[in-house]
Amino acid sequence: MSNMLTALLAITILSISACHAMGVIGIDYGTESMKVSLMKPGEPFDVVLSRDSKRKIPSAVAWKVQERLYGSDAANLASRYPGDTFIGAKFLLGREYDDERGRARHAGLLNTKLVPNAQRNDTTIAIERETDYTINKEGADVYSIEEIVGMQLSHGKALAEEQAGEEVIRSFPGTIGTYGGLDVAITVPVFYTAAERQSLYDAAQVAGMKPKLVSDGAAVAINYAMTRTFPKPEKHMIFDSGAGSTSATIVEFSTKTIQADSILSIGATQKEAIVVDVLGAGWDREANGMVLDVIVRDELARQFEEKNAGKISKPLSQQPRALARLLKEANRVKHILSANSEASSYVEMLADEIDFRGSLSRQQFESLVEKAGLTPRFGQAAKDALDQTKVSLKDITSVILVGGATRIPLVQASLRSAGIPEDKWAQNVNADEAGVMGAAYFGASFNPQFRMKAIKANDGTPYSIVLREQDGKAETIFPAGAVEETLITRTYPGATDDLSMQISYDPSINSEKLDGQQNALYSIELADVHKNLAELKTEGHLDNVQTSVNITLASQPLGVVRVANAYLHVKQKSGGVVGALKGFFNVGGSAEEETEEEANNATTADADADANDNSTTTKKEKPAKKQPPTERHIALTGSIKPAGSVHPMSTGELKTASDRLYVADVVMRKKAAREEARNVLEAYIYRIRDTVDEEYFKKASKSAERDSIKKRIQELNDWLNAAEGDSAETAALKVKRVSLETLVSPIEKRINEQRVRGKAVRTFEKALTQGKTFLTEARANLTEAMQANLASKFTASELDTFEHQLEKDSKWFEEKKKAQDKRALDEDVVLPSAEVEKRAKKLTDTIKKYQKRRVPKSRPAKKESPPPTKAEEEVPPPPEPEAKAGEQKGEEEKDQATHPPRHEEL
Ligand SMILES: *[C@@H]1O[C@H](CO)[C@@H](O)[C@H](O)[C@H]1NC(C)=O
Ligand SMILES: *[C@@H]1O[C@H](CO)[C@@H](O)[C@H](O)[C@H]1NC(C)=O
Ligand SMILES: *[C@@H]1O[C@H](CO)[C@@H](O)[C@H](O)[C@H]1NC(C)=O
Ligand SMILES: *[C@@H]1O[C@H](CO)[C@@H](O)[C@H](O)[C@H]1NC(C)=O
Ligand SMILES: *[C@@H]1O[C@H](CO)[C@@H](O)[C@H](O)[C@H]1NC(C)=O
Repeated sequence: MSNMLTALLAITILSISACHAMGVIGIDYGTESMKVSLMKPGEPFDVVLSRDSKRKIPSAVAWKVQERLYGSDAANLASRYPGDTFIGAKFLLGREYDDERGRARHAGLLNTKLVPNAQRNDTTIAIERETDYTINKEGADVYSIEEIVGMQLSHGKALAEEQAGEEVIRSFPGTIGTYGGLDVAITVPVFYTAAERQSLYDAAQVAGMKPKLVSDGAAVAINYAMTRTFPKPEKHMIFDSGAGSTSATIVEFSTKTIQADSILSIGATQKEAIVVDVLGAGWDREANGMVLDVIVRDELARQFEEKNAGKISKPLSQQPRALARLLKEANRVKHILSANSEASSYVEMLADEIDFRGSLSRQQFESLVEKAGLTPRFGQAAKDALDQTKVSLKDITSVILVGGATRIPLVQASLRSAGIPEDKWAQNVNADEAGVMGAAYFGASFNPQFRMKAIKANDGTPYSIVLREQDGKAETIFPAGAVEETLITRTYPGATDDLSMQISYDPSINSEKLDGQQNALYSIELADVHKNLAELKTEGHLDNVQTSVNITLASQPLGVVRVANAYLHVKQKSGGVVGALKGFFNVGGSAEEETEEEANNATTADADADANDNSTTTKKEKPAKKQPPTERHIALTGSIKPAGSVHPMSTGELKTASDRLYVADVVMRKKAAREEARNVLEAYIYRIRDTVDEEYFKKASKSAERDSIKKRIQELNDWLNAAEGDSAETAALKVKRVSLETLVSPIEKRINEQRVRGKAVRTFEKALTQGKTFLTEARANLTEAMQANLASKFTASELDTFEHQLEKDSKWFEEKKKAQDKRALDEDVVLPSAEVEKRAKKLTDTIKKYQKRRVPKSRPAKKESPPPTKAEEEVPPPPEPEAKAGEQKGEEEKDQATHPPRHEEL
């Protein structure tokens, strides 16, 4: 079903011409696996396949000595190098090292060594490789969580870029006229806090992307809306139970008229769109698929230990390799139990060279989950979502089930027990791919250059954000639920001193809901107010001016607050402008001249006053002469600091991390190229070694030639196996291959010539005959025309030229062929077939050209050959509206070359 749908959708976005191609990558970064989608004009809108042609990619990165692996290659390495394989990193994004909850969820997986992130001046988590292969040997090989996730995202990005044939640009083209490049949208759990969202965003930045983030539920909802209409508003629940968490998001679909920002519909300011509003959510971070794997693994381990008591050297909990293998097996067993009531399990030589044979029934599995207290928690998420949004179940049109764990019977049972009956379940949505497809669509909805069904998503977070001002006054600036406006401006009239304010989650949100993270988010300082007014204050002029401070806060990505801009506005109240006041207003020029863009730039205001270019100087001087300025806008530096100890990555940290990733990528690519070159060389050596004594090869070569080939093969083999060849670079490997090719290719050429010569000779002989016939006929026709004083298709000199060519080629062919016929098979060729074919083609082309000509309409034949005019030369004309006179036509062609048709450009 999904393929047909996607093929249909591809047509709706086909409208953009290929030369300004662009696209959007959607990434659904999950705890266990990642999916990538690509929306690009001309391509079917679909999931991007992994290197092993799978539709999902394990969220893993691993190192095998110095080689870094991704996806299933990485996941498969876990059983051999559990300490160098990293999975489940999503549990750790944006969490403090001391945060037991984040670590506990991750700790069950592999025995990954987590350390405080020493590279950063905060308390986030880093991972340390068990095996230290750092090249410079300075300390252990440590990566921040953002780097680990960034590597995985960069892998997804690379796959999409290969598919798209173009690269990610580093920002969204909010503006008209941005061509090319790929935008990115990444899904984020709806319950992620600001720190966690920031951390995911930073990871994407490390991977060279500045993505839009979209909550999982919103992405699924967008996917749902892609193929449906909503004449009346409908509320749905997206119940998403995945490897990392369970969440239920309540969304409302409606059809509304919205502001059109499409440059393709100039004139129209409004358009009809499906609007998706995220009303709220319930969730449970503990109710996840990975914890179920761990429960199954621990049971299998228990069975093994029980059966082999006394025979094993130490408990499995101290045998990381065995545990890693069992975890993989547990995942398989869990899947089997979704469809069967019993699963048997076998792992060869699990530990201490003892095989594991065990089994688990669905009933046992369910009672283990029950015992862990997890069963009701899956369904509770749905209940919480209804409670939080105060939407009653009867108003829910359907419950859309997504996420792998919704296939597990106990999760479904939990949902039923929570009062969500099966007849509400909509299972006609692709549970694995709805999110990643919706994410790309979401990304594309910001780009007016895409023509597609209009869907506007007002994403939401479940936490209201509150601004507490200096005087203690608190107000909600970004409420929970659907957010349409992500910028808010606050004005402080009369402000004459520095301002500070606090941003936090609504204090009524309990710490449990925030997963133990704190309510406080940021503190903001506007430190330049006093400094800028200091002179007026000391001179006692403060009473003569009106001041006000404006600050604009942005929730971008949604849930993460930034200071978009801040400035101080000073206006003269009344009376003459004197003394310090005069100086004050003359510094920055008048209010009208400072553009908003300049005001945005915190550092511009002062610099601008000195670095006047001539045009602004004149502008500023004019009003200054007539009427001194009485108003100033001064950009303020709004510093925003995270209240907790988890900080966004600084520019420097991002750069270091990106560079490190880039270097690792280059090393990896170089290594891949080297391996490729080595494989090619080896394959070539084997092929030639097998060929050299074949009968056909012997016939075409002298024994001395074969001996030197054999000798070279031996040398190359020795070289490859020696240390020198082992460490050889790509270029050296290529040189070696060429050294053998040089010996082999003349012989291969002879062999090939034998195969193709016959055909080439026949072609040439045919062309020759054709040419002679043509010449005879044409001469006869020309003579006839001249006698009758009529126009002719050809001139005599043209035919002379042709005859000359014919004779020359004929002579060349006869001579070469005679020589070739005398040659033995093992001698080099003197009549190269390619050349023969080329000459034959030239002859037949000339004939064709002459034959296509039309006789010019009764033109008096000139005595001698007139030079061919443009009209006579006419070859099949390019499709053009109407043939015009030569000169004009030439101009038009030129015109078209410099101004390609406009309609396709957008
Ligand atoms: C690092 O953090 C400490 C404590 O939060 C702070 O005092 C110090 O200034 C920070 N250093 C840097 C370089 O940011
Ligand atoms: C400050 O913000 C208020 C409220 O948004 C707005 O009306 C006013 O024009 C702004 N002042 C300046 C100088 O931009
Ligand atoms: C802001 O100021 C910096 C430093 O003077 C400058 O490099 C940058 O281009 C400015 N940005 C804008 C938007 O004016
Ligand atoms: C401003 O400066 C530019 C370059 O320095 C010069 O070409 C231009 O003529 C000047 N304009 C005026 C009005 O002086
Ligand atoms: C010569 O004239 C005849 C009769 O008009 C025509 O069929 C033939 O194609 C002409 N040959 C050439 C080579 O132009």
